[in-house]
Amino acid sequence: MIHLDRYEQRWLWATGIMLVIFVLAIAVTALVGGIEVPGVSVRVNPATVGTAGPFASPGLRQLGPGRYEAYIRAQIWTFFPNEIHVPQGSTVTFHLTSQDVQHGFYVAGTNIHMMVLPGQVSDLTATFRKAGTFPFWCDEYCGLNHQTMAGRIIVDPAR
Ligand code: CUA
Repeated sequence: MIHLDRYEQRWLWATGIMLVIFVLAIAVTALVGGIEVPGVSVRVNPATVGTAGPFASPGLRQLGPGRYEAYIRAQIWTFFPNEIHVPQGSTVTFHLTSQDVQHGFYVAGTNIHMMVLPGQVSDLTATFRKAGTFPFWCDEYCGLNHQTMAGRIIVDPAR
């Protein structure tokens, strides 16, 4: 049996307890906060993504009652489309790709926050339970007018 100094032993315990707390904190935020890792569903060709396939005519599509998917194409320095209306209570799966450089997609007040890369499609799903305006913007520096690259999701109140 190795001899451990009393203080060393206490610090070992403190470190172990902190590790458990950190792992629990990650588990709780992931489960309670609905954190998802953006999936890479499809690879696309950034040169043709604007002229063929679902990103050539991006926008919102209804999949079923209360279920939607939104295709959004990012390019310097805008999103197509940059305004989307959904009814309150809708679950929306976002599919994004870039046709030029790396962009970001952050939707305020939701769990949507992901990188948008040329050549691949990033997906995340969110449910909009509250009516209102949810601004989104690019949060990866992408050049001269990066700060103007923004849009909004308008959640129309259920009647
Ligand atoms: Cu696109 Cu910053």
